[in-house]
Amino acid sequence: MSTYPHKATQRLEDMEPINAPKLHDRIYEDILVRGLEYRQEDADEFADGIALLRELRDIHAEYVNQAGPFADPFGEYLECSGQTSERAGQFFTPPDIVDMMVAMTFNGVDLARERPFTVCDPACGSGRFMLGTAKHFVRHNAGCLNFCFTNVDVDRRMFTYCTMNAVLNGVPGIHVHGDTLRMEVWDAFATLPVGSVAMWERVPPETAKRWLVSALERPETAAVAPESAPSAKTQQTTLEGMA
Ligand SMILES: C[S@@+](CC[C@H](N)C(=O)[O-])C[C@H]1O[C@@H](n2cnc3c(N)ncnc32)[C@H](O)[C@@H]1O
Repeated sequence: MSTYPHKATQRLEDMEPINAPKLHDRIYEDILVRGLEYRQEDADEFADGIALLRELRDIHAEYVNQAGPFADPFGEYLECSGQTSERAGQFFTPPDIVDMMVAMTFNGVDLARERPFTVCDPACGSGRFMLGTAKHFVRHNAGCLNFCFTNVDVDRRMFTYCTMNAVLNGVPGIHVHGDTLRMEVWDAFATLPVGSVAMWERVPPETAKRWLVSALERPETAAVAPESAPSAKTQQTTLEGMA
């Protein structure tokens, strides 16, 4: 019997039997990294990543049916299966509290302003504040996600699940594997919405670091991309193409 608040989460556990490769490693290697090389004509070579992505999209759809839009299946899975680390301070904010904090942050603010908002979670976990912000903008800004969300986590699992949450929910942002306290950046992906999902692109660590510094120091101007920041023009991978 499922021990998860939402039945769909059990399917994530089923994808990760004991002694099998870890789910987050498969997502990172087979989807996020190998997916960058995807070409329609070589689709056979990407069969593992495509199958994994299809399964995750299906689980995500079922989870959202059960828990509501922009809900976080990965966070629920990690917490309820005891995979979070107390030592690393991995406690996720309950979704209702996220919703309240996002509503308070944007209370009375013109969400439709010309310059996109820059929002940063320097200790993002599975990306709940990103998801809550997207939900708020969908509800209160006619569906327009007028922001770029910068996420950072020191744990590669969190970085991977957070990036995947952005991909599956179509949220614009930069997701950084790094240490916010030491200002070290090791890896990063940008996500760019295409319909209800997002395509992704690897961001060089030095570019991601510039973006992060800017987002932390001058949030109002960080929405202006550094010169070498990723753009839709350089993007080669689309979720639609892979799955
Ligand atoms: C309390 S959790 C909060 C997660 C998320 N913001 C939320 O509210 O649901 C803190 C997260 O910060 C990460 N973390 C801890 N030290 C960090 C550091 N120096 N730099 C970046 N992330 C860090 C942990 O891995 C963990 O996922």
